[in-house]
Amino acid sequence: MNWQTFDSTDALADAAARIFLDAIRSDPRIVLGLPTGRTPIGMYERVVRDCTREYHCFRDVTTFNLDEYAGVPREHSGSYFAYMKQHLFEHVDVDPQNTHLPNGMAPDLDAECARYESEIRDAGGLGLTFLGLGRNGHIGFNEPGTPFDARTRVVELTQSTRHANADCFPEGHVPTHAITMGIGTILDSAAIVLLVSGSGKEEALQRLRSGEIDASFPASALWMHRNVRVLVCVAPSSSSSPSS
Ligand code: GLP
Repeated sequence: MNWQTFDSTDALADAAARIFLDAIRSDPRIVLGLPTGRTPIGMYERVVRDCTREYHCFRDVTTFNLDEYAGVPREHSGSYFAYMKQHLFEHVDVDPQNTHLPNGMAPDLDAECARYESEIRDAGGLGLTFLGLGRNGHIGFNEPGTPFDARTRVVELTQSTRHANADCFPEGHVPTHAITMGIGTILDSAAIVLLVSGSGKEEALQRLRSGEIDASFPASALWMHRNVRVLVCVAPSSSSSPSS
């Protein structure tokens, strides 16, 4: 694992956006795995800003999101579909046909999971996947206890994850289930970038740094992958540069 520590969320977002854009420049047909949550918002802002200056930045890019809530319509502001539209897709020249999120409203969710896995396979597999880190160590919505070979499937969210994401559901109906790429699906990505920032992540970060690989801490599976970069912001403040 390659670790970089930043002393501001701005610096982390700059570095993440650079990795994102460099990957597209070196392979305009790249297949990206994309995260949601608060952490990647700064990265998406910078990607959008830079892409408006470049011709056909996203024209041949394909994206697969890590996860989506079950039972939440795409039009709902809390859906990850709405998030991606707001933070990225609406602002770049990506072909909507090439943007993929699991359909949490599908009548048969298990069939939807199998379909999503085969869509990723048919696209040639993930080339570069960005991840955030849940406070309990989850990646995507792979909660503690997930086997490392799990594929895309329906999962029940833990109380702590529902609590952490409750802001997006002000009416109070925080979803209980989601569809997520499995840890095995994520580990198949050629390269992975884990973004860690936000309050309450210190313990998870410490556990990840320990190097102990255990299913009770899903992110520890990343130690089994050969090409992982971890970008960490330890103290949220404004503008500064990488310290290592
Ligand atoms: C959600 C998402 C994860 C994300 C995590 C952390 O549960 N499913 O993919 O990494 O939240 O979110 P945040 O960046 O808001 O801390």
